[in-house]
Amino acid sequence: MDTSRFEAVDQYISRLFAPEDDVLIQVQQCLDAENLPAISVSPSQGKLLMMLARLCQAQRILEIGTLGGYSTIWLARSLPIDGRLVTIELEPRYAQVAQHNIDQAGLTSRVEIRVGNALDLLPQLKTNIDTPFDMVFIDADKPPYVEYFQYALSMTRSGGLIVLDNVVRDGKLLDSESTDPKVKGVQRFTTMLANCPDVTSLILPSVGVKGYDGIAIALVNE
Ligand code: SAH
Ligand code: DHB
Ligand code: MG
Repeated sequence: MDTSRFEAVDQYISRLFAPEDDVLIQVQQCLDAENLPAISVSPSQGKLLMMLARLCQAQRILEIGTLGGYSTIWLARSLPIDGRLVTIELEPRYAQVAQHNIDQAGLTSRVEIRVGNALDLLPQLKTNIDTPFDMVFIDADKPPYVEYFQYALSMTRSGGLIVLDNVVRDGKLLDSESTDPKVKGVQRFTTMLANCPDVTSLILPSVGVKGYDGIAIALVNE
């Protein structure tokens, strides 16, 4: 089937169920103006993240891979007034754009951006947290997805959710001969996840404005 049809349906769904308010429209304009890569979650995916956060009554959220803060804003909007979101971003320029967008969204007091390589920052974060996270959204570089997931698991309460973006990659997930480090990263991750006894998990494929991809959802067991 023509992929423009999938995109049109996704746009229709977003228009009905995930319309962007003035803040999100301005954020998107800012991301374009600042020439950030167009890889933020889509509006419908943002809405799904917000709903998943509400489903697990999230008060504390961790995000790995902030970019310009688009997914951060959807997630942080699920939080109660005293809720907190920590988001990790490697690129100082992206983090600066994200901080601007988070401020514009009125979420400054709920969101803390940490700038650096997630693999360097996660060990410190793990040592210093007093309360575990209710939800973790993993959306940074793909090769260390297994390691990000293991850190997430060690910092998430039972009944909490760990969500990972981009695990289907146009179906390249099935290319056992692939040498693409991103594909190999998600392949290593999905086989690990399927055998992880600590979570109940699933991959949800999707087609739409971001092409053919999918997210992994893992519910942390008791
Ligand atoms: N979650 C965002 C999109 C994230 S894109 C949204 O949907 O709006 C992936 C981001 O991860 C990029 O900004 C990239 O700079 C960042 N990133 C890549 N490698 C990283 C690393 N090792 N540590 C932290 N962030 C990283
Ligand atoms: C890429 C990364 C993402 O997080 C995404 O949602 C889409 C594409 C990428 O690195 O190509
Ligand atoms: Mg992504």
